[in-house]
Amino acid sequence: MSQLDQEIAKRRTFAIISHPDAGKTTITEKLLLYGGAIQMAGSVKAKRSKKFATSDWLEIEKQRGISVTSSVMKFPYKDHEINLIDTPGHEDFSEDTYRTLTAVDSALMLIDAANGVETQTKKLFEVCRMRNTPIMTFVNKMDREGRDPFELMDEIEQVLGIKTYPVTWPIGMGDRFRGVYHRGLNQLLIYERNADRSRPVDLKNLSLQDPFLDKELGPEQADTLRAEIELLGAGDEFSMEAYLAGELAPVLFGSALNNFGVETLLDNLIGLAPAPRERPTLERVVMPDEGKFSAFIFKIQANMDPSHRDRVAFMRICSGKFERGMKAFHVRHEKEMRLGRPTSFMAQDRSLVDEAYPGDIVGIHDPGVFKIGDSLTEGEKLHYTGIPVFAPEHFTRVVLTEPLKSKQLRKGLDQLSEEGAVQVFRPVHSNEQYLGVVGVLQFDVVKFRIEAEYSVKVKMAQLPYSAARWFHCEDKVKLEKFRREQSQNICLDQHGNETILLDHDWRLKYLLERHPDIKFTSTSESVAR
Ligand code: G4P
Repeated sequence: MSQLDQEIAKRRTFAIISHPDAGKTTITEKLLLYGGAIQMAGSVKAKRSKKFATSDWLEIEKQRGISVTSSVMKFPYKDHEINLIDTPGHEDFSEDTYRTLTAVDSALMLIDAANGVETQTKKLFEVCRMRNTPIMTFVNKMDREGRDPFELMDEIEQVLGIKTYPVTWPIGMGDRFRGVYHRGLNQLLIYERNADRSRPVDLKNLSLQDPFLDKELGPEQADTLRAEIELLGAGDEFSMEAYLAGELAPVLFGSALNNFGVETLLDNLIGLAPAPRERPTLERVVMPDEGKFSAFIFKIQANMDPSHRDRVAFMRICSGKFERGMKAFHVRHEKEMRLGRPTSFMAQDRSLVDEAYPGDIVGIHDPGVFKIGDSLTEGEKLHYTGIPVFAPEHFTRVVLTEPLKSKQLRKGLDQLSEEGAVQVFRPVHSNEQYLGVVGVLQFDVVKFRIEAEYSVKVKMAQLPYSAARWFHCEDKVKLEKFRREQSQNICLDQHGNETILLDHDWRLKYLLERHPDIKFTSTSESVAR
């Protein structure tokens, strides 16, 4: 195996999808703890509060008690390199989450044993499904009374339409939680409250009928386990192919807070979850082991240092090897450029990267040349695809309170839209600027940042629209007729694409009937060209 192949095989890049409060922060911390990336539980939260103090616009996060941005964490585990990309918990920032999911190879779905599949889990799952992302599931908080595990499996299958395969199976719950049975290893993992690790009991060649089990678990729980495992035996077999196609989810049970099941989860992440795979571009499919470097930008974070109006662009490496100091071809600008200050993020620390491989996420200094979706290569014109842009559902007009600052405002809005913080629409019939967002809290962030970073005071005036659709039509005459008729509601988005803003649900129905040849879409793809 070549060195590149070895490096690829070692990497796992994933994100956690969950409903707020399911335990994402807790499990992230425990993953880092087992990976040796942090020494002490509590560090992830501590890090967050420190960040609030040093970064001004994140003040808004603190005030609202929400996490707006997503960050990247890299840690080693048993000869593997794990990249975990954190996502914002609040649903108003789900766009950021969607983009993050384009940069991973698999997802971990975290479910609260008492609450099952919740609304935000469902939404995020849908995004994973759009991309056939393989999903592993961790049912958390088994130390509390929760739902019957069969009922939970059933709910995942019914609500999400994905098959499940329990890798481990819980023995009791709440006060009676004794641990899990690992089906593949024929092993009991005994839960010991306040212990760092579970106590493994290898059953080796013993069958579950062996009286040893009664001694270990007590006859009642042993019998329940026997009956339940037999019942499971009748269900779906594990199929690697189905998991990789996003059709079957391996399921594990545990309690993040009590460190239970976290190691087994990590073992399964390295054992089952895919290493970086091929990725589509407009031109062709790119394999990770192609010798030449390529990557795309999926996230831009401004103002990590407000005094310098600094931006960091996060690239996901898709093929080849990245080396510090190397020049890359910026496909949209058709220009070679040096990728400055490549940084990797290891829990609390960031450090300069000397080399990186497919699956790795590297932050690079952005002097204002990147936008989300940009591709970087060693010269080939490749455009990575698949970063979705969702039609906003809330719109405001931006009103300048100081007329002389219109240039600054435009610059600020352009940069914020390149970062994906907001979508900017410019009506074709006026010089106004409209902002569109998927979640209303994004307006607060934009207003705050425009004032703090670009020193422009603005007012936001709500607009009566509730949807936007991108549109196109092969027939130029019909398109022109539509444009003329609807010119009052037509805007150009930040990429210059025509968009129509709609005030009522029935408006779209009406337009569809009246203009059957016009194609309307509610997502557009951010392929940076
Ligand atoms: P989130 O990031 O998904 O929003 O969830 P977070 O980890 O903050 O966890 C939400 C709450 O659930 C926290 O309690 C956390 O301690 C608790 N929790 C997480 N995992 C487990 C578990 O395995 N068992 C039990 N019993 N609780 C768990 P909190 O009281 O809201 O916060 P805190 O004061 O403990 O930080």
